[in-house]
Amino acid sequence: MDSLPSNQAVKRMIDQLVKRLEEANYAYHVLDQPILLDYEYDQLFHELKALEINNPELIASNSPTQRVGAKPLSTFQTMPHEMQMLSLDNAFTLQDILAFDRRIKSRLMHAKFTYICEPKLDGVAVNLLYESGQLIQGLTRGDGYYGESVTDNIRTIASIPLRLRGSDWPERLEVRGEIYIPKEKFKVMNADFVLVGKKPFANPRNAAAGSLRQLDSRITAERSLQMCCYSVGMMTGDPLKTQEQMLEKLNEWGFRVNPLIKTVKTIEACEVYYDAILERREALPYEIDGVVLKVNEFIHQKTLGVLVRAPRWAIARKFPAQEATTCLKVVEFQVGRTGTITPVGRITPISLGGVMISNVNLHNMQEIQRLGLCINDTVIVRRAGDVIPQIVGIASNSESTNRLPILMPIHCPSCQQKLIKTPGLVAIKCLAGLNCLAQKREAIKHFVSRKAMNIKGLGEQLIQKLLDQQLIQSAADLYLLTVDDWMKCDRMATRSIDNILKSLALSKQTTWKQFIYALGIHEVGESTAQILAHHFLNLNQLMVASQTELQQLPSIGETMADNISTFFKDPNNQAMIISLQNSGVTWPTNEIKMQHNAVLSGQNWVLTGKLSQMTQEQASDYLIALGAHVNPVISKKTNRLLIGDHPGSKLQKAKKLEIDIWSEVQFIELLKQYELL
Ligand code: IVH
Repeated sequence: MDSLPSNQAVKRMIDQLVKRLEEANYAYHVLDQPILLDYEYDQLFHELKALEINNPELIASNSPTQRVGAKPLSTFQTMPHEMQMLSLDNAFTLQDILAFDRRIKSRLMHAKFTYICEPKLDGVAVNLLYESGQLIQGLTRGDGYYGESVTDNIRTIASIPLRLRGSDWPERLEVRGEIYIPKEKFKVMNADFVLVGKKPFANPRNAAAGSLRQLDSRITAERSLQMCCYSVGMMTGDPLKTQEQMLEKLNEWGFRVNPLIKTVKTIEACEVYYDAILERREALPYEIDGVVLKVNEFIHQKTLGVLVRAPRWAIARKFPAQEATTCLKVVEFQVGRTGTITPVGRITPISLGGVMISNVNLHNMQEIQRLGLCINDTVIVRRAGDVIPQIVGIASNSESTNRLPILMPIHCPSCQQKLIKTPGLVAIKCLAGLNCLAQKREAIKHFVSRKAMNIKGLGEQLIQKLLDQQLIQSAADLYLLTVDDWMKCDRMATRSIDNILKSLALSKQTTWKQFIYALGIHEVGESTAQILAHHFLNLNQLMVASQTELQQLPSIGETMADNISTFFKDPNNQAMIISLQNSGVTWPTNEIKMQHNAVLSGQNWVLTGKLSQMTQEQASDYLIALGAHVNPVISKKTNRLLIGDHPGSKLQKAKKLEIDIWSEVQFIELLKQYELL
């Protein structure tokens, strides 16, 4: 029988496993370059855990198994920072920045220096204390002199080393940086909160702060917090020379440092950096609220010194705000294409990120109740990317004495028909269909939209006028309008009329899929239209399809099948289709026929990267023809990822979730096998 390994040997095994896991952790969380697959990491982790369970005296404080959270605390202890944590002065304009540059130059008596430009992460500042390379303590910023000890919580954050890497680190060291939650993780976390009836966080910064200040660190461990470092406080040993050198060292010692940081020679170059980062702001996976400009050389920083709470050698160049407070004046109710009623808030106009905002989407009555909104409240409005501005909460200083409740409408604001709320569903609906003028207008808007018939130059106002003057009754009538009709409608210039007639004529050459989508059948979006287009060779086949046949297709359930067959049975819709065909709307015959033995049936595929033999759209067409679902994002449900060149983060995520990865070559083999190529 084999003898058990000696205590020494077990210790060596544990040390090796800890080291290997630390390396993998660093590669994944700090360098963004994974060296282990997820299951390999898990395997090593379980091996280590098993050894530790049998040898609890050998558990090292820096073991990755010790990151899962500790016993809950009853309160946070207040502790001093070894060196004060400074704050930053803000600059909002180019003038502010130029004045900052002049002040520096005059104080440095025109000595040579450089600036280092860093993205300003919008999270929570922390200060970590390392002694003999071990993480000893983690404090929040507090008042700059004293912070709260959140050490147990800090230890759960994977991008923070529990012990420093390498060997040239100082004996005692304070590391400063920002704790944040990536935008995607924030979205998922809030969606989960809503699911279980918890109040979601207003923004990723609040989510990071709330998660870091959990008395139970096991909760923090589940919150996907990250840390990016930007400075040191107290540090023993040889002093470093520049901020750039210090960031390099921090990275070597195991910390995440923002890769977008750049050293430049002039203030003009700082401004170019600011513009470039502002441009990338939306695309970045984390929230930033500006850039920080710092004099790079420590010797010059020392000369410049500190003024009360902020250094003279640094400034935060803030981006235009994306959040602002204003008054909610009125709530109106809009009718959507399928009759859903959506509340829209009219606010006192405000500028957000350089754009004037006067309307906000309030989604539904449940959202209004969740926010506890009333007319005349002072509200926080937020705009992010191309998302329609939202109200994220009532401002804490809102003290309106004239708060008026927002009442659910009883009748459709367009056709006055009584509204219906289906029990269990959030939406309230007008069921008048195309007898409701608003729904008719929305249906025509959908018909002309880019992914449908792609009729350019026909905006909402023009459609409304055509309807008001009864020049059209349905989308098909658009093709019957004469020059006289157009002149009657809007007293338009002949050139504009010419342009509209041209784009109407152009739109008649469409695709089978676009035509189906343009019909506006309830719940038939682009991907269902594609499925139908692949399965049915022509319009006649689709129009007479039975519900049973429809339901055999991927992702078409009972309701959808019912919507489709009801649509084609309606004589008004039949008349509209005939009229469209008589006007000359046509499409090429079906190119890729749906495979009846859909080999990929039930599989969820995601595509990423540039394919060399076909576009992503063509690849999706083939996948759908083989019965697969094609999704835009990777989730636990994804079965396969098809990758082209530069696959990006989807590939990493797929590896993490152990999703089957397919190359284009493999995919083409499959297509050939099924005679699609
Ligand atoms: S330097 C003097 N650098 O911004 C050093 N701060 O508004 C003070 N912040 O409390 C901090 N990114 O929480 C610095 N690259 C960066 C930063 C940064 C975000 C935060 C930090 C600070 C706040 C000041």
